[in-house]
Order: sequence, then structure tokens, then C-alpha cells
Amino acid sequence: MGRLEGKVAIITGSASGMGKAQMELFAREGAKVVGGDISEGAGAEVAQNIGGAAAFLKHDVTSEESWKHIVEFTTKTFGAPTVLSNTAGLPPDPVLIEDISVEVFERLYKVNQFGVFLGMKSVIPSMKAAGGGAIVNISSAAALKGATGYSAYAAAKSAIRSLSRNGAVELGPFGIRVNTIFPGAIKTPMVDEVQMKTVNEFMVPLIHLRRMGEADEIASVALFLVSDDSSYVTAAEIPVDGGFVA
Ligand SMILES: NC(=O)c1ccc[n+]([C@@H]2O[C@H](COP(=O)([O-])OP(=O)(O)OC[C@H]3O[C@@H](n4cnc5c(N)ncnc54)[C@H](O)[C@@H]3O)[C@@H](O)[C@H]2O)c1
Repeated sequence: MGRLEGKVAIITGSASGMGKAQMELFAREGAKVVGGDISEGAGAEVAQNIGGAAAFLKHDVTSEESWKHIVEFTTKTFGAPTVLSNTAGLPPDPVLIEDISVEVFERLYKVNQFGVFLGMKSVIPSMKAAGGGAIVNISSAAALKGATGYSAYAAAKSAIRSLSRNGAVELGPFGIRVNTIFPGAIKTPMVDEVQMKTVNEFMVPLIHLRRMGEADEIASVALFLVSDDSSYVTAAEIPVDGGFVA
């Protein structure tokens, strides 16, 4: 029997990288999974390749209407969601604080922070009605360690930490757990060839395990956090970064 048998999950950013890896792993472990992403073609393909346990809906995490729609779609297709993985995100746009445009700051805030808030807000009623649930929020090692040019991205990702902690306090009495993963440098389409070269040259020597991580290595920790294996774990903050921030 799979570790997520009987669970219904919504995974944002499902078209690529860590979201795609969670779609595949959660479905293999017995969950019914609904992926949401602004990238329609790739998102549909991920769900199609998984088969009957998966569905896809074009979804924008920054829109409350879009969240309402994906919760309704999930409930109609597989049942009320009891798992949420807030994974969608935009990459950092490395510029110094004095050069960050208001537009760039707002865009990163809107997707990387506000989108997580809306996701939590939208699934809480069905999780409460179901008598419990598990939310995993994907932050970043950038929220734990300062770096030049990462301010806007790191500020948004740091706020996820607070949302998770406060959510864990409020939702614990309802059997809803909220945990945070802080990925380090992970090989996904978010990290382009130029960034990959910089990461390998400057960051990898500072990573205890001396390598970048894989999307599957994030998915397996997310699986633990949304499964009953972690039934007494909430408000946990887990860096999955090969030891980078330690
Ligand atoms: N790759 C890394 O090294 C790394 C490190 C730390 C944290 N992260 C975080 O991990 C998460 C997953 O990143 P990834 O590396 O898999 O990246 P990715 O680019 O492969 O996937 C991100 C997905 O989010 C989707 N997305 C973007 N804006 C959206 C929106 N408004 N609504 C819905 N979907 C949207 C994209 O279309 C894409 O499919 C992100 O939150 C990212 O910030 C990544």
C-alpha cells in the first residue's frame, strides 16, 4: 500500500522541476493529484503521462478566483483536497537592492509569497471539513542565508517561513499540519545554463555534499511531510540543501 493512499493533493508549479517530481511521486504512492500551473501544455502532459490518478488545471497562484476554481475542480474530480504543496515560484532576478525595480519586487512577492498565502487560505475550509490535512510550503535556502542580489526573492521566500509557522499554530487544533522545505541549489529548469555554471563554480565548493540536488530529492522530503509518517510533525523547517546553510 502506498504512503499516500486515500489522499487528494493539489500541487502548484506542477509543469516543471520540483512540482512535476512531486506529481509523479505522490501518484506512485497512491494519492490522487491535481497539478496547477500557468504553463498549460507542459502541465497537461505531466498529468497525462501519470494517467488516471492525475489531472491538470491551468492555474495562476496569484489569483484568488483561480484558487477557488482549482479547489472546486479537485473536489469534483477526486474529492476534497487534504494535501497542498505550494511549489510554484519565479526565479530570483539578481540585482542590488538599489537597482531592484518596484515591478520586479512586486512580481516576486505576488507569486512567491502572496500565492502561498492564497493557497493556504483556499484549502483550509475543505481540510477542516475533512478533519485534517497537510500543507508543505517550498521556500528557499535564500531565506536562511544572505546573498548579493537576492533581496527581493529572499524577502518573499522568508515570508513563507512566517506563514507556515503561524499557520501551524492556527491550524494544529484542526489536525492540519504546515511544514516548510528550504531547497538549496536544485537542478531544475529554473536554473539555466549560465546560472548552473556559476553555481558549480562558486556554490558547490560551499555545499557539504559538494553537488547540486535533484528535484526528486525535494519530492521525497515533501512526501514524508504530507504522509502520515510525519503525523506529529508541524511547523518544521527543513533545509534540503546538501548542508549549504549549515
Ligand atoms: N531550483 C532551485 O535551485 C530552487 C532553489 C530554492 C528554491 N526553489 C523554489 O522551488 C520551487 C520550484 O522551483 P523549480 O526549481 O522546480 O522551478 P521550475 O521553474 O522548474 O518550476 C516552477 C513552476 O512554477 C510555475 N509558475 C510560475 N509562476 C506561476 C504562477 N503565477 N502560477 C502557477 N504556476 C506558476 C512555472 O510555470 C513552473 O512550471 C520554486 O518556488 C522555487 O522558488 C528552487
